[in-house]
Formats: sequence, structure tokens, C-alpha cells
Amino acid sequence: MTDKTSQPRVLIFDTTLRDGEQSPGATMTHQEKLEIAGLLDEMGVDIIEAGFPIASEGDFAAVSEISRHAKNSTICGLARANFKDIDRCWEAVKHAKSPRIHTFIGTSPLHRAIPNLDMDQMAERIHETVTHARNLCDNVQWSPMDATRTEHDYLCRVVEIAIKAGATTINIPDTVGYTYPFESAKLISMLLERVPGADNIIFATHCHNDLGMATANSLAAVEAGARQIECTINGLGERAGNTALEEVVMALRVRNDILPYSTGIDTTKIMHLSRRVSTVSGFVVQPNKAIVGKNAFLHESGIHQDGVLKNVETFEIMRPADIGLNEKNIAMGKHSGRAALRAKLKELGVDLADNQLNDVFVRFKALADRKKEVYDEDLIALVADEQTND
Ligand code: KIV
Ligand code: ZN
Repeated sequence: MTDKTSQPRVLIFDTTLRDGEQSPGATMTHQEKLEIAGLLDEMGVDIIEAGFPIASEGDFAAVSEISRHAKNSTICGLARANFKDIDRCWEAVKHAKSPRIHTFIGTSPLHRAIPNLDMDQMAERIHETVTHARNLCDNVQWSPMDATRTEHDYLCRVVEIAIKAGATTINIPDTVGYTYPFESAKLISMLLERVPGADNIIFATHCHNDLGMATANSLAAVEAGARQIECTINGLGERAGNTALEEVVMALRVRNDILPYSTGIDTTKIMHLSRRVSTVSGFVVQPNKAIVGKNAFLHESGIHQDGVLKNVETFEIMRPADIGLNEKNIAMGKHSGRAALRAKLKELGVDLADNQLNDVFVRFKALADRKKEVYDEDLIALVADEQTND
């Protein structure tokens, strides 16, 4: 068993309140944002990206108040590459015990065309804006948006400029969820190798899930040397969403033998946060979503139920309690067997003799054929029926 306290840390940067809230329809109220930020802080998130202060008065107010209340987390605000955005961001985050300015610009050919800057003009803009941010705050993160579609030579050039201008974290976004795991790792290794000063800053990975690879891409980046993962609760985010916090944190915990890095996250708080984010954003979590889906720890088939009743490890790689879920993990349905029925009834305080159990089992199977899931109340009714008929 590895001693996790002596392991190097991967920082967890949560952007539920900024990139997550950018999903169409996921708008949260001021009070809801404060509540979520408080829960993230308590859970041990290292950096909370609380919003985009120039975007609206509401965002500015939320980032300012979250900054005032945060106990342990660094509070970060987003700013485009101009002085006005950066000043507004600083006005909001400066109240935090530990503030951070996060400034970005799109560096790929497609993104460079939007502000109509050539490569040299963009390089100059990066130098000026990162220097300005660093004069306000000694914790500055810089992101080349669409980094995974930026020419490598140009990416190395602008990352070096940002580091020289004072950026302390360089985030490498896969803005459109385009990269593959091995490519994500190669990009981080390439930057660490080629950019002077790269070993004095932290590289972050920020992945979107358009091809369903955000978690794999983030972990591959960590394997190559990234030390900050950017993510959201339930993977909330634009289009197919961002890397899901619960997935990377539990992957690092369950397969610590493969990637021996610790996080500061209290995983027992995951389920509660997932449910609160789902409620306040109005984004329902799909039942088979990894870690936090309703079915993530449920077993219905007879073989699986029998296995987990004998030894949970036969079909579970983590315990429900690890994420703060204390509910039972047996779902009664048409694939359930006699052993599961006996265990479930015991849990409900009913102990039947073998012949009674056989009768109830026959009726249970008939009911399960008609219903998707048989609930505790259905079982109690079946037992009551059996006892009246006796
Ligand atoms: O996906 C992205 O590129 C972003 C940047 C603002 C970091 O969210
Ligand atoms: Zn993003």
C-alpha cells in the first residue's frame, strides 16, 4: 500500500461556476453560486473559478462575495486578454485570502482570425496582458485557448512569453474536445521539454468532452507532467461538457497504483455536491453516469447480486460510502435471484421460512416481469399477501 501523504499532489481546479454555468440553461442564482462555492471549498478543491467578472454585474457580485467567504480555496476569475477585463477581474477576486487572475486568448489559426491579429501582434498582446495581470496579482494563470489545434512552434513561443511575463500556471485547453489521450500526453511532454522556464510553473489540463475523452485526456496529461486538472461537478459545461471532477478524482484514488498522485478532495462529499449541482443547474445526471449516476453502484442481475452479497469486491471497484452514498446497492428486478430477495427482505426486517420465501419469490418474479424495478413497498405487499394466504 502506497503512503498517499508523501505522494505529489495534483491540484483540482473546479470551474462549475464559470465553464459549467456557460452551458445553455444552467444559469444559477447568486445564492446558489455561494452555496456551491462553499461546498467546493469544504470538499477541498484547490482553486475555484468563480465566474467571469466582466460578463455581467451578477457575475461580478458572485465572484466578489465568493472571494470574501472562501476559507481555504484560491478564488479565480476569468478575463479576456485586455486591461479592462483584467482590472474588473482583479476588483472581484482581490478580496480573497488567495486570489488568482486567469486570462486567456485563442491561439489556433481559427481563433487568431477572430481578433484579426497576426502571430507577432498576438504575441505582443500576450506579453502586455500577462504583465499587467502580474502587476496586480502574484498568482496569474494564462490559457492559449484551442491549444490542441495550435501550431506547436507557435504554442511554445507564446507559452514562453507568458511565463517570462509572470504567469505562474499555464493551462492547456482542449477547447473543442478534439484531442486523444496519447496526443494530450505528448503535448504536455513537448512543452515541458521545449519551453525554457517550463519546469518552474504548473501546467494545467482543461478538457472538453465532445468525443467522450475528457477524463482520459486529463489523466494522460497528468501522466506526462500536468499538475492541475480543470473540471466541473457532473462534467457540467458547454456542449458535451467538461472533464467531470468526480471521475478524475476517483480514478486517481482507485488506480493510485498507476498514477501515484494525491488530491486534497474529501471524496465523501462528492454525492451531495453532485445532487446540489444537478438541482440548481436543472441538469439531470444520466442514470449510468460514472461515479454519480443513480445506477453507478446498483446491481440487478442474479449473478452480480449473489457476488456482491458474498464479497462486494467481485463487482465493485469502489465503495458507495467512498463518495458519501450510504444507500443500499441492490436493485430488485426481473434479473434478481433468490439470495438477493432473502437479503433484501432481511434488510426490511422480514425473515421468512424457506417455503414462504419460495412462494414470495415466484410472485416477485411475476411482478418483476411487469415492472422495471420492484420497490421495497412492493416487496412488503407481497409478503403481507403471502402471510394472509397462509
Ligand atoms: O475551453 C476553454 O478553452 C476555456 C478557456 C477560457 C480556458 O474554457
Ligand atoms: Zn472550457
